[in-house]
Amino acid sequence: MGPGNTTMMVTEFIILGFGDLKELNPLLFLVFGAIYLATISGNLLLVALVITQQVLQTPMYIFLANLSCLEVCYTSTVMPKMLLDLLREKRVISMVGCIIQLYFFGALGCTECFLLAVMSYDRYLAVCRPLHYPTLMHKALCRRLVIGSWLSGFTMAAASQAAMISSLTFCGDNEIDHFFCDLKPLQKLSCSDPYLVNLVCMSLTALVTMAPFGLTLGSYWRILSVVLHITSKTGRQKAFSTCSSHLVVVTLFYGTLILVYAVPLAGQVPAVNKTFSLLYTVVTPMCNPLIYSLKNRDVKEALRKLGI
Ligand SMILES: *[C@@H]1O[C@H](CO)[C@@H](O)[C@H](O)[C@H]1NC(C)=O
Repeated sequence: MGPGNTTMMVTEFIILGFGDLKELNPLLFLVFGAIYLATISGNLLLVALVITQQVLQTPMYIFLANLSCLEVCYTSTVMPKMLLDLLREKRVISMVGCIIQLYFFGALGCTECFLLAVMSYDRYLAVCRPLHYPTLMHKALCRRLVIGSWLSGFTMAAASQAAMISSLTFCGDNEIDHFFCDLKPLQKLSCSDPYLVNLVCMSLTALVTMAPFGLTLGSYWRILSVVLHITSKTGRQKAFSTCSSHLVVVTLFYGTLILVYAVPLAGQVPAVNKTFSLLYTVVTPMCNPLIYSLKNRDVKEALRKLGI
C-alpha cells in the first residue's frame, strides 16, 4: 500500500437526518412523536381486540393481529432513535448499531411481504372457495403460515445481510444523508465497486419482494375475476368488501416500496428518498389499524362492546 492509499476504517456513522433545518427539529419531534404514539396505541389496541374478542378469532384477524405486531416492531426499529436524534446535536450510530438496525428493518420488511402474501391467499380462499374455506384454512395451517412468514423473513434478511456486508467496504466518508441506516444511503458511502454492490443489492431485494408480490397479485387477479362474474350488485359488493381493506394496505406497502427501491431516481436524490422512506416507516404503519377498523363492521362492533 502506498502512502496516499491508506484506508481509514469507518467505525461509526453520522446521521444527517433532516438536514440543516435546526429550527424545525422541535416541531418535527412533536409531529413524529405524536404519530409514533398513535401508531403504537392503534396497533396494540387492534391486537388486544383480536386476542380478547371471540368473534375476531378467525384466520383473517389472527393474521391482522400479527401484522399489527409487526408494524409496531417495524416502526420501532427507526422511530425512537430518530426522535432522540431530533433532540441531539451530535447524531452518531456505531457500525454495529447500524448493522443491527439495517438487519431488523430488513427482516421485518421481508416478514411483512410474506405476511401480506399469506393474507391475500387467505382472502383468495375466502372469496374463490367459500364453501371449503373453513376446512382449507384451518387453525394449524394458519399457525404454520404465520410462523413460516416470520421465520423466512428473518432468515432471508440474515442471508442478504451477510452478502451485503461482504460486498460493502467503507473507507473514510461516514455521513449518512438519511434519518436511519438504510441500504441506499449506505451503498452510496461504500467505496467498493459500485456495479457489484448494486447488482448484489438489487437482486437480493428483487428476490425477497418479487415472490410475495407475485403471489399477492395472483390472488387478487383470481379474486377480481370471481367478483366480476357475480351478477348481483350486492353480492359483488359483499364478496369484495372483505378484501378491500387488505387491498388498500397492500397497495400502500408495495407502492412505496417500489417507488423507493425500484425507481432509480428516488434512491439517488436524498430528499426524495427521505420523503418516500417516511411514508413506509412512519405513515403506513399508522394507517393499517385505521384502514381495518374504519372499514370493518366486526372490528367496529368489538370496539363498541368495549365501550370505546
Ligand atoms: C399470530 O399468529 C399466531 C399463529 O396463528 C397466533 O397464535 C397469535 O395469537 C397471533 N398473534 C397475535 C398477536 O394475535
